[in-house]
Amino acid sequence: MFKTIDDLLADPHGIAGKPVLVREDLNVPMHDGVVSDDTRLLAAMPTLAELADHGAKVLVLAHFGRPDGKVDPALSLQPMAGALASVMGRHVGFLGAPDRHAVDILEPGSITVLENTRFYPGEKTNDPALAKQMASLADFYVNDAFSAAHRAHVSTEGLAHLLPAFAGRAMEAELKALEIALDQPEHPVAAVVGGSKVSSKLDVLTHLVGKVDHLIIGGGMANTFLAARGVDVGTSLCEHDLAETANAILDAADKANCTVHLPYDVVVAKTFAAHADHRTVNVHEVAADEMILDIGDAAVEALSDVLKTCRTLVWNGPLGAFEYPPFDRATVALARTAAALTREGTLVSVAGGGDTVAALNHAGVGDDFSYVSTAGGAFLEWMEGIELPGVKALHR
Ligand code: 3PG
Repeated sequence: MFKTIDDLLADPHGIAGKPVLVREDLNVPMHDGVVSDDTRLLAAMPTLAELADHGAKVLVLAHFGRPDGKVDPALSLQPMAGALASVMGRHVGFLGAPDRHAVDILEPGSITVLENTRFYPGEKTNDPALAKQMASLADFYVNDAFSAAHRAHVSTEGLAHLLPAFAGRAMEAELKALEIALDQPEHPVAAVVGGSKVSSKLDVLTHLVGKVDHLIIGGGMANTFLAARGVDVGTSLCEHDLAETANAILDAADKANCTVHLPYDVVVAKTFAAHADHRTVNVHEVAADEMILDIGDAAVEALSDVLKTCRTLVWNGPLGAFEYPPFDRATVALARTAAALTREGTLVSVAGGGDTVAALNHAGVGDDFSYVSTAGGAFLEWMEGIELPGVKALHR
């Protein structure tokens, strides 16, 4: 079990006037100094506001980009203080090179962003000396950044060993949702795994076949599986060299009683472009000069029927080339079915990772899933069954 902010607030000595280091993920898309997607800022808000409202001196730790231990003014977190302030509607300060004296003179109830943790060479190597120096700034440590918890860095892992450590509200919600989805799910469980390459999700697929009842494979990955089964996929994106691996995954699924769903009708085109001329065909009818860009309506209908029998769904990756309409049809249709089943209360649906959030938002159902994770790499590692170091360090 991990401790949460409820445990921190139950501290008999209280947190008023005490400095608390809070690790957030402020690695947000920025263009010309302006945040273009504030999802992660919104996720950070409840923890920061709650601690500040209880009188803590909140010190926000975060990384931005990959400066690799060097100071890069273009990756300073200074603009993030302003961005957080406008999202939160309250003052947020910035401290470039904090020491305990600078922290001591901060107002109780203040929120202060510290400089990019990755400017320090010791951050990535989880250097004990840097951890000690950072820990000396505060009395407590809160990790609210699930999406950075796959990194064993000072700010995500090391500090949890030096200060009383707690999960923030966003981290707590994420861990609870993920536990419901894969650790103790209600069966039958379905997983949708899409995206372009089998090679990037091999470990995810291998782990999932032992966990779920239905594995729905979409995107370019499905082509690799179809080809491994002897289907001619024309000019489709396909990792032909992974045929053996794909067959091994199918065999493992068979042994584990996991039904793998590959499309039997597909949408094909001769060019990879929005609104390209296309047709829907049986997978055995793909012409040599055609590529598969989406799964067909009949397959989507069959998959919707599968979801109707399930109690839990984990979704990562689109089913087709969803950025290029009309090849977004299958992703949109199945996402809407999942959202409707979730609203009706028959399905717990958890989604996350890279393109997935964009795909669900594109389908207009981002708010209808039980939980949508903002994590990319961390969500994938969790789907691989890896214990994330930042999470492990909280379980003490
Ligand atoms: C992310 O954006 O997925 C996290 O902030 C982790 O960033 P990283 O891949 O640079 O560690």
